[in-house]
Amino acid sequence: MSDRSGIFAGNDPFSIARTWLAAAEEKEINDPNAIALSTVDEDGMPNARMVLLKEIENNAFVFYTNYDSTKAHEIEHCGKAAFVMHWKTLRRQIRVRGTVTREDGIQADAYYNSRSLKSRLGAWASKQSKPLESRGALVAKVAKITATKGLSPERPPFWGGYRIVPTEIEFWADGDYRLHDRFQWRRDTATHEWAVLRLNP
Ligand SMILES: Cc1cc2nc3c(=O)[nH]c(=O)nc-3n(C[C@H](O)[C@H](O)[C@H](O)COP(=O)(O)O)c2cc1C
Repeated sequence: MSDRSGIFAGNDPFSIARTWLAAAEEKEINDPNAIALSTVDEDGMPNARMVLLKEIENNAFVFYTNYDSTKAHEIEHCGKAAFVMHWKTLRRQIRVRGTVTREDGIQADAYYNSRSLKSRLGAWASKQSKPLESRGALVAKVAKITATKGLSPERPPFWGGYRIVPTEIEFWADGDYRLHDRFQWRRDTATHEWAVLRLNP
């Protein structure tokens, strides 16, 4: 850990992650906060999909989704998840593994209410990950929800956040001739101290 400097410097991995994301926001054309979220199903079969990382807190990463989606069922069953975010323009990635809990209180309400009206109504209309008969059926559902919910729909009870509290975070940056830099932060539980290792590329 002694030679950790430059973009890897600091004693708080969440602060480093925030700084890297801010750098990505300057460069990436679309969705610099996109993460590939990985879960496993009841049979141990891995699954992955993109979601948007909405908050980097002092001890956690937060994203929002439908609590009846495939990912939500996998998270609720397993209690753990991993994600990777990769910025092609920066040639950097961050990998995270940890335990997951719901954020379905006032913070979720606040985020839901910050979204556009169409997105808020869309959350009500979509039975995410369930079969859909046709595009027309979804459009009709949105129209119906719009008529019943009006201009200030409340957050659906089946929609909210998940908070990933990591026990492992890895910062990776491209190096010449594939001699990349990797620093892995690990701790036994969310309340333990971090230990940092430099890893071979
Ligand atoms: C760039 C990008 C961002 C996305 N962000 C979200 C998100 O924040 N929340 C979400 O539920 N789905 C998001 N999606 C859709 C998911 O990838 C996925 O299709 C959906 O959540 C259903 O996944 P599941 O069936 O595994 O639950 C996003 C897709 C892309 C490509």
